[in-house]
Amino acid sequence: MITQTPFGTMPNGHKITQFTLTNAQGVSIEILTLGGVIRRWLIPTTEDTATDIVLGYDTLEEYIHDDSSLGALIGRYANRIAKGQFTLDGTDYQTDINLGEHCLHGGSQGFSKQIWDSSILSDSENPSILLELQSRDGDQGFPGDIHVKVIYTLTEHNKLKIEYFANASKSTVFNPTNHSYFNLEGHKHGSVEDHQIQVLASQYTPIDNQGVPTGEIVTVDETPFDFRPLTSIHQPLSAPNEQIQFGNGLDHNLCLDYYSNKARVATYAAQAQTQDGKVTLKVYTNMPGIQIFTANHLRDKKGKDNALYQARHGVCFETQFYADSPNKPHFPSTKLEADEEFYSITEYEVLF
Ligand code: BGC
Repeated sequence: MITQTPFGTMPNGHKITQFTLTNAQGVSIEILTLGGVIRRWLIPTTEDTATDIVLGYDTLEEYIHDDSSLGALIGRYANRIAKGQFTLDGTDYQTDINLGEHCLHGGSQGFSKQIWDSSILSDSENPSILLELQSRDGDQGFPGDIHVKVIYTLTEHNKLKIEYFANASKSTVFNPTNHSYFNLEGHKHGSVEDHQIQVLASQYTPIDNQGVPTGEIVTVDETPFDFRPLTSIHQPLSAPNEQIQFGNGLDHNLCLDYYSNKARVATYAAQAQTQDGKVTLKVYTNMPGIQIFTANHLRDKKGKDNALYQARHGVCFETQFYADSPNKPHFPSTKLEADEEFYSITEYEVLF
């Protein structure tokens, strides 16, 4: 089932809609046409209570001013591009700079700040909506007109399937993701440090003190980044380690072992579960990496339902190409050729 409700009006007069996708299991997910934000994700944990497993805000105003990308779609380029500069087909490009001297998440007016066109694709037992965006040549400094489609489908098996499609008028770089902050105990619960996570990644990309990859791809053996066995989030965070200091916690890209270039199906990549094992989130994707981010920058941030979010109150699994790939030719390529069809898929499955 899908319902639509107004979620306020932008300063330019555009009306924002909230879609609520609900399946027969009683899982219900609220999605906004501003930034394609996943605002609420309710799972029925007991007969008469539901737990909201993502961080978010109550009002449109807060989403307009948000600088943490809570729940939002990210593009054109998730994560950092060093100095916002890259060269493509012999032309130098300068993007918007919004994180020190770097570009983060596609610039200050990236996809998370855009108003997406929307339509309902299916109102059946697998409710599905389509969001669409036309980003013009030069938008935030990126080359080429690009037409982006994102399909959100809530399946009857409690998976949220996110499919990204794009094509560009000339070659460009493209790296979309969703930036949901999960707290499987509920968004008001507090720290996620007692969650356990697994990531099927034998390597990761170390960062410098500004979060930009150094270009190395190194083994996770004997580092705090070995999440192949289920590991509590507390463990790496408490490790005396320069990388953890650089990220102010976990804010690192892990290189997924089962990535296969051009695969169109999502493969199991990661999971998180509550300490008591009652709620599990499984992540499937066809992207090469996942940024594991432990919400290190949140400080007294007012959230939904009078929540007050702090650092470590959520964990993001941002499926992505590696950060700064346009400047790292040995990383999987983010180049999207003119008239090539981009497709990626990420699925978040919740078991409870
Ligand atoms: C980045 C963080 C950033 C956060 C909020 C994450 O994907 O890696 O460094 O603070 O997004 O935008």
